[in-house]
Amino acid sequence: GKVGDIPVYIGSAQFAAWKHTQLILDAVDGRGGMFSLDNGTERRLLVRSRAFDDKELGMIDKADTLRQMHHDIARDPDAFWLNQARRLDWESFPTRANESSFDADDFAIRWFADGELNLSVNCIDRHLEERGDQTAVVFEGDEPGEGRTLTFRDLYGEVCRFANGLKSCGVAKGDRVILYMPMVPEAAIAMLACARIGAVHSVVFGGFSPDSLADRIADCGAKVVVTANEGMRGGKSIPLKQNVDTACCKAGGVETIVIVRRTDARVDLEAGRDVWWDELRETVDADCPPEPMNAEDPLFILYTSGSTGKPKGVLHTTGGYLLWVTLTTDLLFGLKQDDLFWCTADVGWITGHSYVVYGPLSNGVATVMFDGVPTYPDAGRFWETSERLGVTVFYTAPTAIRALMREGDAPVTRHDLSKLRLLGTVGEPINPEAWQWYHRVVGGGRCEIVDTWWQTETGGALIAPVPGAMETKPGSATRSLPGVFPELVDAEGKVLDGTTEGNLVITQSWPGQMRTVFGDHERFFQTYFSTYPGTYFTGDGAQRDEDGYFWITGRVDDVINVSGHRMGTAEVESALVAHPRVAEAAVVGMPHDIKGQGIYAFVTLNAGEEGDAALRDELRAWVRKEIGPIATPDAIQFAPGLPKTRSGKIMRRILRKIAEGKPGEVGDTSTLAEPAVVENLVAKRIEP
Ligand code: PRX
Repeated sequence: GKVGDIPVYIGSAQFAAWKHTQLILDAVDGRGGMFSLDNGTERRLLVRSRAFDDKELGMIDKADTLRQMHHDIARDPDAFWLNQARRLDWESFPTRANESSFDADDFAIRWFADGELNLSVNCIDRHLEERGDQTAVVFEGDEPGEGRTLTFRDLYGEVCRFANGLKSCGVAKGDRVILYMPMVPEAAIAMLACARIGAVHSVVFGGFSPDSLADRIADCGAKVVVTANEGMRGGKSIPLKQNVDTACCKAGGVETIVIVRRTDARVDLEAGRDVWWDELRETVDADCPPEPMNAEDPLFILYTSGSTGKPKGVLHTTGGYLLWVTLTTDLLFGLKQDDLFWCTADVGWITGHSYVVYGPLSNGVATVMFDGVPTYPDAGRFWETSERLGVTVFYTAPTAIRALMREGDAPVTRHDLSKLRLLGTVGEPINPEAWQWYHRVVGGGRCEIVDTWWQTETGGALIAPVPGAMETKPGSATRSLPGVFPELVDAEGKVLDGTTEGNLVITQSWPGQMRTVFGDHERFFQTYFSTYPGTYFTGDGAQRDEDGYFWITGRVDDVINVSGHRMGTAEVESALVAHPRVAEAAVVGMPHDIKGQGIYAFVTLNAGEEGDAALRDELRAWVRKEIGPIATPDAIQFAPGLPKTRSGKIMRRILRKIAEGKPGEVGDTSTLAEPAVVENLVAKRIEP
């Protein structure tokens, strides 16, 4: 029909069923209008005129889809989620959706609890018939062009074999397997193989020290560790197998180490315990039927830092997690079969789990696994590789963008990036200058920026723009995705309305939410649900503007975010005090141009010890050895005394201001046991 001069087309197939209902056109401005059905519901009318180009039409369709999703969730959430569950292939389709409660008396996080499925079937088997010969994984090594590709059929074969390999090492459903690997296809294969037989993987970032690895092996009780002889990053080798040997000595309990031959380097093998991946592969059957898993069976454990204690084993389960990453990959990146998706994260972090491996593969889309660094052999690496491989959607961290921006435009503009259509960011707040540069120089002003806010605990993105469906603002992760209900609360937990700033909580469960802290359910409840009862507390602060957009301001707890890597200040402190010459340490974050936050450590030495440059270097090396290079302090200030309350609590608020170089803002020091300590620290501040 026509509305005024504009020809009107109905864009929904379902519309035929409603054609007898009376339409009330609220507004037709050439971009569509809302109309109401006489059953009280509202639909958006798609209006198409010759004046629109395709892009605008896409915008209307996507905005409409998103609005419909929000609407359907509000009306009947369980029906909505059971409908979304059709994105996956189930052995036994669930009849129940959300059975979660954040309240202390009936606390539980549970989704699709009577459904059965296997994750590897969803990421591989179900694509075989239609696109078995399509590329699934593109491996790009440390040296440009060093690599190989695997089709979905190749992946199927390798995953089945390695799954049988794990079985032959005695791994059964529910057993934990540690992966300490480079970014090679074998890492994804091992993850998927665990999922195929119902083993629980725990990937440990290859940059962590043997001590950190040992803690994780011991905490999850792993019998098998999968690693490589060595890793290669930025032209330097990393002794992965040797680190595993050291860790296993410390942790004990490991019966088998499987070693991928990443380079020609030879390593010591312990007979009866160590086996080469390629040799194991030859001894097993090529066929491995998938283990049917309950939706709530554990899928993986991933250790992450909190404000206190040792890193926690964040546990995710099968059905809800997979649905969440499948759905969000689709909403945020709209991946289609001819896309090539490159998320630059390492599989040692949650982003690598959700958006290098599971999200793209579940959607049947090719994913890049990059085993290098952004600056090797030069600052054009991302762009040279994107051009050569034909990357269409690129997803990285603000810290990398800031570091590359510093190198100027030439390393980018030298390359033809016309295939790129969308750019994502994750891990920390992105400053508007970096956002603009990413958009203008990398994206040629053409690609939308998808700033995704989420956490290890959330499984996948929670606050992020759906491209094409909404306006973006540089520096804001925009609004929550369908099914995510954020609020801002004050220190007492009072919900704040409108344009405001507060602590970010989520009031209802979503399918991708973590289920527990492995081995410590009480800690799970205490950490996330006791601060503001009845809600999940994220640990982040945020502002909300007049359009309801969220601007994440960063952590409000003792967690810092260094180059997008999350770290507990308490972990760095305990590494420092483990040094024989250190009596006490207090660690805070400070603003850092490239890393977002840097690590500033105040160290009190044992009585009679003198701090000098050599000891500073020694302590930095010590922390690297204890935790890993990402925890290396940027500045160490020797402090004869630390500002403490009379009850002995260190006043970090004051230390943060000193580290930031803003002594004028330390505020009230009258409650300190020794107020003079502050002046001394201010006077001796280290310029990082
Ligand atoms: O402070 C937030 C920050 O990273 C934290 C989560 O870290 P992690 O569990 O390691 O997961 C990182 C990858 C999902 C959050 O509490 N963060 C993450 N994404 C953003 C962010 N801060 C601002 N904007 C983001 N887009």
